[in-house]
Amino acid sequence: MEKVKIGIIGAGGITQYAHIPCFQKLEGVEVVAICDPNELKLKEVTEKSGIPQKFTDYQKLVSSEEIDAVIVCTPNAFHREQAVAALRSGKHVLCEKPVALNSKEANEILKTAEEKNKKFMVAFCHRFDNTTQFLKKSIDRGEFGEIYYAKASYLRRRGIPGLGGWFTTKKFSGGGPLIDCGVHMLDTAIWLMGSPEPVEVIGSAYNKFKTEATDGGWPPSSSRTGDKYSGTFDVEDLATSFIKFANGATLFLEASWAGNSEQGLFLRLFGTKSGARVGQSEEEGKMGEKGLKVFTGKQGDLMDISPILPDVNPYEKQAAHFIECIRENKEPITKPKEILNVVKIIEAIYLSAEKGEEVKL
Ligand SMILES: NC(=O)c1ccc[n+]([C@@H]2O[C@H](COP(=O)([O-])OP(=O)(O)OC[C@H]3O[C@@H](n4cnc5c(N)ncnc54)[C@H](O)[C@@H]3O)[C@@H](O)[C@H]2O)c1
Repeated sequence: MEKVKIGIIGAGGITQYAHIPCFQKLEGVEVVAICDPNELKLKEVTEKSGIPQKFTDYQKLVSSEEIDAVIVCTPNAFHREQAVAALRSGKHVLCEKPVALNSKEANEILKTAEEKNKKFMVAFCHRFDNTTQFLKKSIDRGEFGEIYYAKASYLRRRGIPGLGGWFTTKKFSGGGPLIDCGVHMLDTAIWLMGSPEPVEVIGSAYNKFKTEATDGGWPPSSSRTGDKYSGTFDVEDLATSFIKFANGATLFLEASWAGNSEQGLFLRLFGTKSGARVGQSEEEGKMGEKGLKVFTGKQGDLMDISPILPDVNPYEKQAAHFIECIRENKEPITKPKEILNVVKIIEAIYLSAEKGEEVKL
């Protein structure tokens, strides 16, 4: 393969912010096509990025013989059909998180990828954060011992992504901050815990801040040309949950779009040899050196370690990894079982919240 040729479905925020610049930067890679039903956005994005081909129908993009790999960056409800269509057309697929709305849809995608023998990866970009990479290496070397508890939070104080766009409309998103943001922390936490098997989940979901949401208030409207906001808000604005694993480990997970709390991304790991705290609050700035502390000990004395880490752009690392998997026939970092477990847990949290009781997996 001379060049890896990429087609992108969805020309919205994450495509403009992360995928176009990161894939265009890579040597031996060309972003040849982009698809979006919103013609105004399509025009703006192709003019700015120089991507040569534009489509309003994703079927035309996935059936293009020139394309080797497709990136799915559309509202969550379209991931299944677009990922499956791309895989069936013989393309490798990088799919934005959440992989799909539920485990049935996720299973269909994963089965198709296996049948077609194509690479399928979920864009869990936080696996490529410098802090996550540092922790994963330390954990794999045994420096944390057994990780038996973790606490993961993704908290926005006032960050409801547009009142009545697809994010706040359940049939397009599948849910609120849990499936949108919590999914990242859930994946990162479980991956660092060694991907234990989830067995039981209890969860609650709240919707208290609807009146404080503003039309298109977040993310910045600059990436949302032509989007319309209907006012629908039938998802949660905060979800809390407790997950038990077959090896006895437990995870507390919380995710909000709005709440009277400090905001940021936080992860705490409790291991028998060491623990860690990763934080990215407003005070601490970017996820990185300041936010990471390792709690450990040496010969009976307790020690805190604050590692100095290289600055990385996780989206660039993610793009490079996906291309490497295609070129060198490697297995993507997100394994099918891990992808499925994350969806199953989210599904179970919503079910538990609805039924008011714990859910066994
Ligand atoms: N990994 C991350 O850090 C991250 C960050 C933001 C969003 N995301 C994910 O990326 C996906 C897109 O989010 P976004 O913030 O870019 O949303 P967005 O609303 O900014 O963009 C979505 C785009 O998809 C287009 N679209 C809608 N239906 C389509 C269809 N049937 N075919 C083709 N295009 C279609 C819309 O016109 C829009 O331009 C979501 O799954 C979201 O969860 C991931």
